[in-house]
Amino acid sequence: MTSDTTSETEQKIADTLARLHRTDDLAGVEAIRVEALGKQGWLNQLMKTLGKMSPEARQVEGPRLQGMRTRISEALDDRKAALEAAELERRLATETLDLTLPAPAMPTGSVHPVSQVMDELAEIFADLGFSVATGPEIEDDWHNFTALNMAETHPARAMHDTFYFGEQDRDAEGNRMLLRPHPSPVQIRAMVEQGAPIRLIAPGRVYRSDSDATHTPMFHQIEGLVIDKNIHMGHLKGCLIDFIKAYFELDDFPVRLRPHYFPFTEPSAEMDIGCDRSGGKLVMGQGDDWLEILGCGMVHPNVLKNCGIDPEEYQGFAFGAGLDRLAMLKYGIPDLRTFFEPDQRWLQHYSFGPYDQPNKTFKG
Ligand code: PHE
Repeated sequence: MTSDTTSETEQKIADTLARLHRTDDLAGVEAIRVEALGKQGWLNQLMKTLGKMSPEARQVEGPRLQGMRTRISEALDDRKAALEAAELERRLATETLDLTLPAPAMPTGSVHPVSQVMDELAEIFADLGFSVATGPEIEDDWHNFTALNMAETHPARAMHDTFYFGEQDRDAEGNRMLLRPHPSPVQIRAMVEQGAPIRLIAPGRVYRSDSDATHTPMFHQIEGLVIDKNIHMGHLKGCLIDFIKAYFELDDFPVRLRPHYFPFTEPSAEMDIGCDRSGGKLVMGQGDDWLEILGCGMVHPNVLKNCGIDPEEYQGFAFGAGLDRLAMLKYGIPDLRTFFEPDQRWLQHYSFGPYDQPNKTFKG
C-alpha cells in the first residue's frame, strides 16, 4: 500500500470520527457503523486486501488496519453510550411523577338494580332447571295476540295499551307490528320452535302506553313457562313459592292464589304475598295485608294447539311478573320512574358492584 492510500484512509478515519461527533441520534450512529464496519463497509473492504499482500506488507498493514477498526469501534461505542445517557437524562427531566399527588379516581361503573334482579332470577330459576329465552321487542300480532288465544276481535287485546306500528308496516305474512306489551310471545316462539317439553324464563323489556308514578312506557317483565306431561296447578304453586322464598330470602312466606282472568291461561290466578302496611311502611312476609306480585295459570289448550302441541298429551303452566316491581320491593326503591332517569346519585345509592354475587339462597 502506498503512503498516499495510507493518508487517504487516515483522512477517512478522521472524517468518520468527525461525523460521529456531530451525530446526535442512535440511528445516525448505527448508519456510520454499517458504513465503516458492516460487511460491505469500507474498512472491511480494506481488510480483504490483506490476503493479496506480500507477507512483509501484511505485517505492517494488518496491525494498522486492526488498530483503525478498534479506534472506530470504540468511538462508536462511546458515542452510543453518550447519546443513551443524554436520552435518559432528557426523560428523567420531562417524565416527572409527583408521588405526593392524590391517586386518580378508580373508574366506577355499577350494575343497575334491574340487571341485578335479572341475574338473581336467572340464578334462582337455573337451580330449578329453567333456561333463559329471549325474543324480539318488535313483535307481530300473531305471536303477541292471536297465538295467545286472542283472536283479532278479542276484547282482551285492549287490556294492554299496546303501541302499534303504522297500518302499512306489516310483516311478510301481513301481520300488524307492535312493541310487545309482555314477554308472552317468547313462550309462543319457544313452543313453535322447540316443541314440548319446555322449561324457560323470558326476562326483558316490554312497552305499554301508560305513564305515571307507578307506570313507565317501557318497563321489564319476567315470564316463566313449563310444558311437560301431567303438569298441574300444584306444580305451579310449588314452583312460585320456591321462587318467592329464594328471591326475598325468607323462610316462611304467606302466599295466596286469587282467581283471575288471562286469555292465555285457564284457570288463571294472581298471586299475592303477605305483607304489613300498618306502620306506614311496607314489610313483606308478615302481617295480614296482601300485595299482588304476579299473574299465572295453566296454559290454555288453545295456546298449545296454536303452537302445534297436543293438549291431551302435554300440559303446562305460565307466570309473569313485573321485574322493576320485584326490584322495588326487595331493595326498597319507592318510585318506578327513577329507574329510567340517568341520575348518578340514584345509581350510586341503589346500584350494585360488578363483582356482587346474585343471591340464590334456597330456604326450606
Ligand atoms: N302476560 C301477563 C301480563 O302481563 C302475565 C301472565 C303471564 C299471566 C303468563 C299468566 C301467564 O299481565
